[in-house]
Amino acid sequence: MSIVYLNGSYMPLEEAKISPMDRGFLFGDGIYEVIPSYDGKLVGFGPHIDRMNEGLELIGINFQWTQNQWREVCSALTDKNEGSNLGVYLHVSRGADTKRFHAYPEDIEATVFAFVFEIPPAPVAEKAAVKGYKVSTTEDLRWKRCNIKSTALLGNVMHFQHGHAEGNNETILYNAEQNMTEGSACNAYIVKDGVVITPPLDSQILPGITRLMLLDILRKDGSIQVEERAVSMEEVRNADEVWLTSSSKEIAPVIELDGVAVGDGQVGDVWQQAQALYSAAKYNY
Ligand code: PDD
Repeated sequence: MSIVYLNGSYMPLEEAKISPMDRGFLFGDGIYEVIPSYDGKLVGFGPHIDRMNEGLELIGINFQWTQNQWREVCSALTDKNEGSNLGVYLHVSRGADTKRFHAYPEDIEATVFAFVFEIPPAPVAEKAAVKGYKVSTTEDLRWKRCNIKSTALLGNVMHFQHGHAEGNNETILYNAEQNMTEGSACNAYIVKDGVVITPPLDSQILPGITRLMLLDILRKDGSIQVEERAVSMEEVRNADEVWLTSSSKEIAPVIELDGVAVGDGQVGDVWQQAQALYSAAKYNY
């Protein structure tokens, strides 16, 4: 049975109830995080909480917990629930109003919800053991503030479903200039001639914590060159390797794009090197 946290209490999932007038339910008016935990050890905890606090501030939800308050909830949930590979989902919505009205009241109390769910074991840096992703591509039709980790995910859901309906694991998105933005639920990269290239942070993409950590780890190590710049879809289609990153998958190698092999269709050497570096350093954040 799953034990969840809701507004100050721990309870079985079946007992967790919120008002249908909650603005998270009616408008998707909230911010969320997903933090991976392996054997009770959280990955990137500090940066995840910083991003959550920034998101809350950006959408004007007047709610800030300290890192210690969040850590207590995360630890309690990983202790109370079974499983060693867990994603900790944290969610703060603006709260329940008495009516449905777009403008929000100032005195509204935020709804705080958290639960854990099973994620795959962390990948090991072995080509034979890792799952190669097959992805679709489509134009990015989301809003202009994709840097906010909003619970309003209909655009992402529809884009993910596009790839899923084509029998693929993800969907890589591109903007009107035919430049790659990100995946529907992950950041995206190419590798060309040994250089890892990923779009720069702006309002078209989520500032992924896995991305933040990976780029920092690669730059500190120095053996793989990293560039943050616009990446055209033509470059994506001619890349030696394509990768996706997110908290629940770390670095996922893409082996097929719209039914066409990426590079030689095999998981790449640079992926293996980068995943090994990431695995060795991921608990330092
Ligand atoms: N997805 N871009 C988008 C649109 C995302 O939804 C995510 C994460 C990322 C990667 O961010 P991070 O490395 O911080 O997980 C990039 C999460 C896991 C989700 O919605 O389930």
